[in-house]
Amino acid sequence: MRPEIKTPLPGPKAAALIERDSKAMSPSFTRAYPFVMERGHGCWVTDVDGNRFLDFTAGIAVVTTGHSHPRVVAAIKEQAERFLHMSGTDFYYSSEIELAERLENRILPGTPARVFFTNSGAEAIEGAMKLARYATGRPSYIAFIGAFHGRTFGALSLTASKASQRRRFAPLLSSVFHAPFPTASRGVTTDQTIERIEELFATVAPPESVAAVFVEPIQGEGGYLVPPDDFLPRLRELTLKHGILLVADEVQSGMGRTGHLLAVEHWGIEPDIVCLAKGIASGLPLGAFIARAEQMSWPPGSHGSTFGGNPLACAAGLATLDLLEDGLMENAARVGAQMQDGLREIAATHRDVTDVRGLGLMLALELRTPELAAKLVQSAFGRGLLLLTAGTRAVRISPPLVLNPEEAATGLEIIASALD
Ligand SMILES: Cc1ncc(COP(=O)(O)O)c(C=O)c1O
Repeated sequence: MRPEIKTPLPGPKAAALIERDSKAMSPSFTRAYPFVMERGHGCWVTDVDGNRFLDFTAGIAVVTTGHSHPRVVAAIKEQAERFLHMSGTDFYYSSEIELAERLENRILPGTPARVFFTNSGAEAIEGAMKLARYATGRPSYIAFIGAFHGRTFGALSLTASKASQRRRFAPLLSSVFHAPFPTASRGVTTDQTIERIEELFATVAPPESVAAVFVEPIQGEGGYLVPPDDFLPRLRELTLKHGILLVADEVQSGMGRTGHLLAVEHWGIEPDIVCLAKGIASGLPLGAFIARAEQMSWPPGSHGSTFGGNPLACAAGLATLDLLEDGLMENAARVGAQMQDGLREIAATHRDVTDVRGLGLMLALELRTPELAAKLVQSAFGRGLLLLTAGTRAVRISPPLVLNPEEAATGLEIIASALD
């Protein structure tokens, strides 16, 4: 299959809907180009005017199993015919319990663990922040410059990705301290980061006041930044030394995207709390945070959610986990390696590309300037490929994990021609 652009972009139906959207919807969104979705299957999406695009965004790294995977749709339909909602906060249903058991067994094997289900990534972070305070009795948090953890007040206090996300929303939580995120792409070393955290401990954040360190194993919205190999093991060591919980925000990097269920598996570390969302249910709103049972031992009433762990989302989550375990994680590693080789070949012949990075199908091309990154995204859209930027001047490649080698080659060909 190939992209097919039959109308000017936006086409007439898309233009009419965008006009209505501009009057009806919040202007706070960040739409880069006028794609108006009509339907999608696998890695392909069609707009309301019948134009077909290859989707390298997966709806911001969400539709892990591709658009409307038949097994996910069947699971949702089967659940929808039985019941839509009952609320896990006050009642019980099997899909929620089964999904919790399966996540625990995969994420903290052999350890008694507990899950709390949410509706979004930000809510998973909020819950983890509350749990960290509850479990440790300590007030403060450490996060990293460039981090994105969500937009609610607690999560936003950790977020340090773009000033536009924080401007005019202060005061945020005062007990959050930031350290630089180490990555070769920014010339920051693990030593510098650890020294900065030690400096925070020695000055404004005594270690016995720090409940948790929140870290994205690979920074997502910050620009798909990969840390040096020694960073997460050393951060694990440092947090253990001071009784500080290590919270891995795997909202974007988790659920098989990097070729393992969690990105932290690449560095062999076990966090105390893992936050998930985005890819967990192939597009239905679901998030989760998972912790050892001894840590998640807060009493009834201390946390809850009307919709969290909705039965449709849990049914989609179970089908998603089946598909990930049946080959999609391996596919992400295999096709991701092919994509990364192809991107490096493109970088070798295009001097505007200054870096290629990532793991599995969490990949990025960095351009010389933010303008060039925005231009590449626009130009790819005109050629039938959906891309998004990340950070200031990176273009992220986060397709559904069902991407096959031919589709990867088509995407690479369009990126090369758009750069030309
Ligand atoms: C790493 C990370 N954490 C948290 C969030 C917030 O998730 P949500 O938008 O579902 O609230 C995001 C969203 O992009 C994210 O990438």
